[in-house]
Amino acid sequence: MTPQLIDPFARAITYLRVSVTDRCDFRCVYCMAENMTFLPKKELLTLEELDRMCSAFIGLGVEKLRITGGEPLVRKGIMTFFNSMTRHLESGTLKELTLTTNGSQLERFADDLYAAGVRRVNISLDTLDEDKFARVTRWGRLPQVLRGIDAAQRAGLRVKINAVALKGFNEDELFDLVRWCAGRDMDLTFIEVMPMGDLGNEDRVGQYWSLDDVRARLSEQYRLTDLAERSGGPARYVRLDETGQKIGFITPLSHNFCESCNRVRMTCTGELFMCLGQEDMADLRPALRNHPNDDAPLIEAIHGAIGRKPKGHDFDYSRQRADGQVSRHMSHTGG
Ligand code: 5AD
Ligand code: SF4
Repeated sequence: MTPQLIDPFARAITYLRVSVTDRCDFRCVYCMAENMTFLPKKELLTLEELDRMCSAFIGLGVEKLRITGGEPLVRKGIMTFFNSMTRHLESGTLKELTLTTNGSQLERFADDLYAAGVRRVNISLDTLDEDKFARVTRWGRLPQVLRGIDAAQRAGLRVKINAVALKGFNEDELFDLVRWCAGRDMDLTFIEVMPMGDLGNEDRVGQYWSLDDVRARLSEQYRLTDLAERSGGPARYVRLDETGQKIGFITPLSHNFCESCNRVRMTCTGELFMCLGQEDMADLRPALRNHPNDDAPLIEAIHGAIGRKPKGHDFDYSRQRADGQVSRHMSHTGG
């Protein structure tokens, strides 16, 4: 029998998101400051430690692993790690290995990812306009990402586009994005911008655009059918009746998904965050590093952490910069 990870609210933890680096080749305004100070490399879990850590979670019932960053594909040697996870897919203990990426390195890695057993990728893309793309990502270039998306689809990876909804920035592209994704058979999810990192200091780009409003605009052109399917996370889905297309809405600020939360997040240094919206974390690295040949202390530390998973989070725009504000950057806890 698999020893399950069950939290104090009877939720089974089956989904682990792992940030493998805090670095990124972009500097999206809602995610990072222009001048970021990154962690010294020795603080990061090594590729071998990442393997041990993830394997421990998989041994405890985690069935879905999402690799994030920063940008996961800029981590040196990252394919070694993906390839090492393939054994868990082959044994059937791991059901899905996936990643969230900005797409910049996909031209290089798409085939290798497919070969490692990855079947789906989430690619972040907020605009189809080259100038706007350069503005929101600061360092990103759209054609490179579009080539990455092409490569992913060619490799056989199912692509989901994640677009952060930004007031006065991509409002006018709502229908273009919908049609573009439909034309390429890609799912599309809108993400409400979260009050993290330096966002409060960013003016022109990075403004909150309510997904209720995105939805209302969509319903002016399409008939929307709510879909019951849930991923255990903050996403809700609708189908556009006219195209059959599925559109997701991620509203992490609402509390309406906490009761079904099935996930925890690990930073690239081995800190386990039990809830995206809370500061509490468990540093799993000592249990890992101090016992190179014995997983028992790590497993105990994981159980202890899951035993502290809170009921829900505390984001609230009406109290922005007060209690609900979480000061870590998304690149730290990995989206
Ligand atoms: N609010 C919402 N989404 C964010 N992301 C990064 N920072 C934020 C934020 N403050 C998203 C990216 C990407 C994923 C990794 O997280 O756009 O889709
Ligand atoms: Fe990099 Fe993604 Fe953050 Fe943009 S949102 S800076 S692509 S980690």
